[in-house]
Amino acid sequence: MKITALLLLLSSFVLSQTFKEKYRPQLHFTPPKYWMNDPNGMIYMNGEYHFWGHAKSKDMVHWEHLPVALYEEDGIAMWSGTAIQPQDSNNTMVLLYAGMDRKKGIQTTNVAFSKDNGKTFNKYQNNPVINPNLRDFRDPKIFYYAPGNYYVVVVVLSDKSVVRFHKTVDFLTFQIMSEFGPAGAAGGWECPDVFEMKVSGTTESKYVVMVSTSGTIGYFVGSFNGTHFSNHQPWIRLDMGTDFYAAQTFNGLPDQRRVIMGWMCNFGYVGSQPTDPWRGVQTYPRELLLVKNNDSYKIASQLVRETHLLVNRTVSHAFHVDVDSEQELTFKDARGRVSVIGVQVELKSDTKGFGIKVLMSADGSEYTLIDYNVATKKLRIDRSKSGNVDFNENFLKANAEMEVVPDKDGVVMVDVLVDVSAVEVFANQVAMSAVVFPNAASSDGLAFVSHGSSVLKNFVEVDLNSMYDK
Ligand SMILES: *[C@@H]1O[C@H](CO)[C@@H](O)[C@H](O)[C@H]1NC(C)=O
Ligand SMILES: *[C@@H]1O[C@H](CO)[C@@H](O)[C@H](O)[C@H]1NC(C)=O
Ligand SMILES: *[C@@H]1O[C@H](CO)[C@@H](O)[C@H](O)[C@H]1NC(C)=O
Ligand SMILES: *[C@@H]1O[C@H](CO)[C@@H](O)[C@H](O)[C@H]1NC(C)=O
Repeated sequence: MKITALLLLLSSFVLSQTFKEKYRPQLHFTPPKYWMNDPNGMIYMNGEYHFWGHAKSKDMVHWEHLPVALYEEDGIAMWSGTAIQPQDSNNTMVLLYAGMDRKKGIQTTNVAFSKDNGKTFNKYQNNPVINPNLRDFRDPKIFYYAPGNYYVVVVVLSDKSVVRFHKTVDFLTFQIMSEFGPAGAAGGWECPDVFEMKVSGTTESKYVVMVSTSGTIGYFVGSFNGTHFSNHQPWIRLDMGTDFYAAQTFNGLPDQRRVIMGWMCNFGYVGSQPTDPWRGVQTYPRELLLVKNNDSYKIASQLVRETHLLVNRTVSHAFHVDVDSEQELTFKDARGRVSVIGVQVELKSDTKGFGIKVLMSADGSEYTLIDYNVATKKLRIDRSKSGNVDFNENFLKANAEMEVVPDKDGVVMVDVLVDVSAVEVFANQVAMSAVVFPNAASSDGLAFVSHGSSVLKNFVEVDLNSMYDK
């Protein structure tokens, strides 16, 4: 990704800060101050999760802000990168990052080492360690390849839509092994991630190659033989929302878990988002599972299981309620501002659709609508009444929409993570992410409306505690 991840953290500022400013998410990671983009160097090591600027966590849901780990020096800007713990070390952390040589206009791979679990780093004095002398060569990501006992570093030749695979054993010398691409989605590629996943409920495993392109993220599924990736199926988008880019998965998670976070960003308007004194938010960590249906593989996304650590109260607003056409149920004791909302709707022969309103103002005029259309089977996020929508003309032009087929009993299930100014919708284990900017003094209302009659089987609100509540 192009703009340097700049997480300037002034410790005195952090200490005095309440993190309760207007629009400040309480579950999603945001920097105390200034600009943040791609999540970088995501790693789990010695009981702690890290990513850079620098932030760490013991559980992925409460994050602690730490001083900036590394700065630009000698005209080499630090762009996106990756972290790994070498197999033979207990407290060494290795960072590989894209270096943008401001004078020569080329991009290279550089390395920095920490010998104290990621507290302090030294850049290698003979950087760069990979330099093919290209203008578009960035976003290294590393994984350990156990069968060969070496590490594989993938870097994109962004303008060519190619992922180049390198091998290393010492993080200083690298050999090119192969290239993958162009394939699937056209457009420049950024932020590659390559990882092995067990197919749920089987002993089979596959390799996934994920890339960000044209403001979205998608993945290929295939096999990797130690040098080459062979793709077995078309590119599939991972998130159907307006705001999800440059995601990366943690290295080093136990039990072959795969957890992803991405930058909630849309290039159409991210530069003018009305948040202050920070700009930029990461998606809530999501657990990825690889599922197989009829010989094709799909990644299922769900909230990380650690979410249970945040649960404050659970309220069932409706249970098997017959809803008339155009009847709107407004739930009086809703407090759904930092919550997971679980909705199950049984469609009847005359159901044309339904809407779930979240982040609704007390007078009902402002809300974010999650709207389902039975005829088109499309679930979408409608932000037209969500609050501040005028800060950029591209905001309402962006589309968050996905196909949702009702289950065999005609039930549509939707889960919505609501977090002040961030909404993530999950249906059939596919996610849609979107930022919104509610303006009302109170925006914790919830409602359900049916177009044609339907049965609201369930409407549950699980309120979560803020990560800043200790
Ligand atoms: C890592 O820790 C283990 C257990 O404490 C120890 O036996 C081993 O010698 C350590 N390895 C290194 C390289 O420090
Ligand atoms: C891996 O696949 C490539 C491309 O098909 C092939 O050239 C290479 O020999 C394979 N390597 C191994 C170890 O099988
Ligand atoms: C698998 O294929 C069958 C036959 O084409 C189809 O009826 C079924 O819906 C498919 N299942 C999934 C989960 O796609
Ligand atoms: C739930 O949230 C309220 C309000 O913030 C707080 O006072 C209470 O301690 C929380 N309860 C639990 C069980 O976390």
